[in-house]
Amino acid sequence: MPADGPPRTASAIPRIDARRLEEAIRSFGRIGALLGGGVCRLALSDADKAARDELTHRMTMLGLVVDIDAIGNIFGTRPARAPDGAAGTVMIGSHIDTVSTGGLYDGTFGVLAGLEIVAALNDAAIETERPITVAAFTNEEGSRFQPDMLGSLVFAGGLPLADALATRDADGAVLGDELRRIGYAGDATGPENIAAYFELHIEQGPVLEREGIQIGVVSGIQGISWHAFRLTGRSAHAGTTPRAMRRDAGMAAARIVHGAYEMGARMGADQLVTCGSLRFTPGLVNVVPQEANLTIDLRNPDDDALRDAETALLAIARTAAAEADVQLEHRSLARFAPVSFDPALVAEVERVATGLGHTTRRMHSGAGHDAQMLARIAPSAMIFVPSTGGVSHNVEEYTAPDDLARGTEILNHLVLHWSCPSLDGAQNGVRA
Ligand code: GLV
Ligand code: MN
Ligand code: MN
Repeated sequence: MPADGPPRTASAIPRIDARRLEEAIRSFGRIGALLGGGVCRLALSDADKAARDELTHRMTMLGLVVDIDAIGNIFGTRPARAPDGAAGTVMIGSHIDTVSTGGLYDGTFGVLAGLEIVAALNDAAIETERPITVAAFTNEEGSRFQPDMLGSLVFAGGLPLADALATRDADGAVLGDELRRIGYAGDATGPENIAAYFELHIEQGPVLEREGIQIGVVSGIQGISWHAFRLTGRSAHAGTTPRAMRRDAGMAAARIVHGAYEMGARMGADQLVTCGSLRFTPGLVNVVPQEANLTIDLRNPDDDALRDAETALLAIARTAAAEADVQLEHRSLARFAPVSFDPALVAEVERVATGLGHTTRRMHSGAGHDAQMLARIAPSAMIFVPSTGGVSHNVEEYTAPDDLARGTEILNHLVLHWSCPSLDGAQNGVRA
């Protein structure tokens, strides 16, 4: 919190401490740490609870007012100098849940960069005209509960709370029960008026590194469509059952997977297809599978093309099931149209980054992010920093300290500009 005494506003940019940020990232990397590196902090697991406890503790130590909403989103707000200051909070957000083979940076970097910016403002005893809120949204990854970006989707009004709370994981655990179990079913509503939302994230892909560019200015996010298929046949002896008498759920699943990848290849480079999960029951070498469960992730920056891919996928699945004489069940796990970020805010990210002397490139995000939900209710933008080897959703995920610092510095300028709107560009280094 700002120190007591006469109010001060920014006359210089508060300096972020890149070492402190790095240490915070490393410290969160110990929560849910996997042997050999990386972390597993599936949403609403014990490890997620431990990370939430650490985050809320750090927020409190920084003087933030901590609010938890009914879906477990965490908001830490640094109040404005005067309650009747400029309208709306400046929100910095991302997530601290991970996939089960996650790295240290996906999501966590964006949240901890927000805390670092608050710490720098506190160090400089700067009071802002708008509040600043650091947000960590529930279940961004969607590995345990679907859809992904669930917390930010509920917050943005895109999914009824009751539906979200009733969601079950693969073992039947109910999201609402898990939220209560870990003590994060809150009763706050979170900020109602968001002047601007910023999300700083690792790229999670190879483009920036390959092109030797320091900062990705994210113009939007491609469409995402997740599908689950269950095929039910009949288990039988692998050596004695003639082909014509089989109801082989495994064969049908294999044909769906093959057909989906072939369809993607035919549609071109923009149509991505991933079968990320495939399980046979009983899963034995000499038994024709009774049941197969699989998921398909489809992504495309063009919504019409994504719809074509969805139609083709369902046709492939129906044909494969009919040919194998197995029963087909299909569920949509997530469906998000492509999103374009606020053009003025995107241009501002670009201006700030180039103004600080960094090389930039506009790019679409291949991954989903909470920013795509926040874009429904507030001007939103994202900043990407390079991912070494383009690797993410992998324990080896790594971004160099200089890249982390560059991204955080840009975010720092943007947040200061938005939280002190009466300052002109010359004062805070940002040209409006
Ligand atoms: C979220 O991480 C996604 O699947 O893009
Ligand atoms: Mn992420
Ligand atoms: Mn992720």
